Amino acid sequence: MADGNQYQEYALSEKNSQNPNGLSQLLTVPDPCIMAIFGASGDLTKRMLIPSLYELFSAKLLPENFTVLGYSRKEMDDKIFRESMNEAIKTYCDPGNDECIKHFLSNIYYLPGKYDDEASYLSLKEKLDALCKEKNIYGNRLLYMSVPPEAIPEIVNQLGKSGLNRNIDDDSWTRIIFEKPFGHDLESAKLLNKRIRKYFREEQVYRIDHYLGKETVQNIIVTRFANGIFEPLWNRNYIDHVEITSAENIGIEGRAGYFDSTGALKDMVQNHLLQLLGYIAMEPPAMFDAKSIRDESLKVIQSLRPYELSDVDKMVIRGQYTSSVVRGKNVEGYREEEGVPIDSRTETFVALKTYIDNWRWGGVPFYIRTGKRLPTKVTEIVIHFRSTPYHLFKNKDDMAESYNQLVIRIQPDEGILIKFAMKVPGYISESEKRQYGFSLFRSWRCGPSYCL
Ligand code: BG6
Repeated sequence: MADGNQYQEYALSEKNSQNPNGLSQLLTVPDPCIMAIFGASGDLTKRMLIPSLYELFSAKLLPENFTVLGYSRKEMDDKIFRESMNEAIKTYCDPGNDECIKHFLSNIYYLPGKYDDEASYLSLKEKLDALCKEKNIYGNRLLYMSVPPEAIPEIVNQLGKSGLNRNIDDDSWTRIIFEKPFGHDLESAKLLNKRIRKYFREEQVYRIDHYLGKETVQNIIVTRFANGIFEPLWNRNYIDHVEITSAENIGIEGRAGYFDSTGALKDMVQNHLLQLLGYIAMEPPAMFDAKSIRDESLKVIQSLRPYELSDVDKMVIRGQYTSSVVRGKNVEGYREEEGVPIDSRTETFVALKTYIDNWRWGGVPFYIRTGKRLPTKVTEIVIHFRSTPYHLFKNKDDMAESYNQLVIRIQPDEGILIKFAMKVPGYISESEKRQYGFSLFRSWRCGPSYCL
């Protein structure tokens, strides 16, 4: 059966192979390749990319001789880059085996270079070719953009001019990966797409969203489509409303430059939370493969009811965090964070109500919200089923609205919980709320299944 890392890997290899048997491919290790990370001196490389690659490496899910070439403007040599990646692995991964870390780091290199200078790209090409030869990688190249959005058009241009956009021969591939933000509005996204498509064929381009790599997000599809019990209820006849929440207790973590020109709506909603909405609301895909899932998810997005200007006041709330005390520690308000203009109107919180105008969901409100510096950290989807036509039993705790729910917890404590009413034990006929659930990673209080 699929597990998280392997699905991502499947998504990456799927474009090349037209094998309709989705799942049987999941255990294959990808082709030998070299990954060039643009913006390698940045925070994302340290906090996410290298630790994730290391974990794949230690789980033996990377191809032999998998090599990383870090590329960015900062002057550094291989040794300094490796030291900093060593520290990153020790900070962000579970305690590892020193030998394993050493082996992984021995395939990591660094090249300083500019983003807008032809000579730098020639050196990059030479370095990539030399490493491919040395490591017997046959020219498969993965170009990962971990740079500020404004740098991307020029990088794509230079990659095109230097020929780094092309496969080396018929047996090798060159792919390019982008994360959000992909432009800053429809117009700029279209322009960026046009620029990319000038140099790269569509099958070379991967626009990714890290939420789709989360175990519980992948599990939404399995829960919905591997169990017959949910489908008959999964529609407007039985579902009253749906909440999709991603609450973070951290602030902007020194990312004022990026965040203040982006805001919570573009940082979280248009990408991560709409992906969750797509998975919750989609029709069953014809196959378990990247294209079928993407096609069904797209239909959901296309059915979202557009807002009229007059709806915005009624259906959308924006906010900013102010200074407060979190777990006994004074924390700054958004406008006091370094680099944020004192009169900034960028939202750090947004909540909205939306409708999916199709046969399954017509009339069911979906509430989506996200924010930084909230009292707790939780990402979850709550399906509220319709209540019974009248209440036959007295509720012990008067919490009828909190019955009839299916909670899909994305993080932390990944798992699924069902809340419903049960009889209070004894000689009374009152009902009370009970919860049954299971944790994906068995970290919940009473192991794989429990009842509260
Ligand atoms: C990123 C956003 O895409 O997702 C961050 O830019 C946010 O602002 C992060 O904190 C949340 O991701 P996760 O995996 O921690 O929920």
